[in-house]
Amino acid sequence: MADLTTTVAGVRWRNPLWLASGIWGESGESLRGAYEAGAGAVITKSIGSGPRPGYPNPTVEPLGPVGMLNALGLPNPGIEEYPREIEKAVSAGVPVIGSIFGGSANEFTALARAMSRTGVRAIELNLSCPHAEGFGTEVGSDPHLVERIVRRVRAATTLPVIAKLTPNTSDPGALARAAERGGANAVSAINTVRGLAIEPELRRPVLAHGIGGLSGPAIKPVGLACVWQIYEAIDLPIVGIGGISTATDVVEYLLAGASAVEIGTAVAQDGIEVFGTVAKALSDWMDRHGVGELAELIGAAHPGRRAKRGSPRRTRSVASHRRRRVSVVRGRSPPAML
Ligand SMILES: Cc1cc2nc3c(=O)[nH]c(=O)nc-3n(C[C@H](O)[C@H](O)[C@H](O)COP(=O)(O)O)c2cc1C
Repeated sequence: MADLTTTVAGVRWRNPLWLASGIWGESGESLRGAYEAGAGAVITKSIGSGPRPGYPNPTVEPLGPVGMLNALGLPNPGIEEYPREIEKAVSAGVPVIGSIFGGSANEFTALARAMSRTGVRAIELNLSCPHAEGFGTEVGSDPHLVERIVRRVRAATTLPVIAKLTPNTSDPGALARAAERGGANAVSAINTVRGLAIEPELRRPVLAHGIGGLSGPAIKPVGLACVWQIYEAIDLPIVGIGGISTATDVVEYLLAGASAVEIGTAVAQDGIEVFGTVAKALSDWMDRHGVGELAELIGAAHPGRRAKRGSPRRTRSVASHRRRRVSVVRGRSPPAML
């Protein structure tokens, strides 16, 4: 049977299918439910310095097979309150990744310190929400700011740091390089794509906030292109996100260069069972194609698996590719299996 384990940011995870931030991560019970349904890791809702109610309704517009548009406005109970929920999942043995958002390097740093005390296995920096003024894309589309935030967070925690990048940029590779320079252990991409729905009869936007973020099947090509460009740009492991609901989607992201993926809208649309279903289908796909481990697929669609920056131009073998991925968090003990 195929080996679904994957190593990202120096941690070995039981499979590459992670719960994306903001969907199903409201409570300790829901985080635990996603893990028990088969997720390899679960990511919390993005947590900020204090409680935020988010935007008024309507905040979500379903778009049928296309996906959905949302402008929730990062509602969350704040870093004082939310760790109680994390504790419930962590004490049940669930590998939780804590997502945080802030408006400055100082705010991210304080949040990272607080999040590091909760028992999470890694921290994901939301540098990419497209609809929250002063947060997300507004800080995450400036490479200098990305580098500064990542560097400050890196210095403030011993946990692996994953920088979640925006697709709402002309150069995802530049943002990824900035995250790498800042000391990130991995990058994840993409957050939602900026979008708008108009109500013609009422002559106004459908969502109360106006601009929102598009997610689901429609953004898969955008996510794949970002992962592809990021793989070409940096040496860090990549977590692919955007429109994933089937094993085939996962394989496409792996071939584009992802070492793991996050699933969001499909959980909202198909239910939490999607993790078990996709894990089984991925394993079957690998068996049918004679693929023993994920490393055989990661980045394999890149011609010659191009030489990484700083190394001589040559085709890397699967084994050397795998060693490189495993050794990303320098100075850490061998990855623990989750
Ligand atoms: C309702 C909703 C809420 C979200 N909330 C967050 C969030 O709090 N933090 C974050 O980093 N991403 C958030 N996202 C973005 C997702 O984590 C993911 O990056 C995006 O939806 C693309 O993946 P998908 O097509 O599988 O949904 C949210 C997405 C949706 C649809």
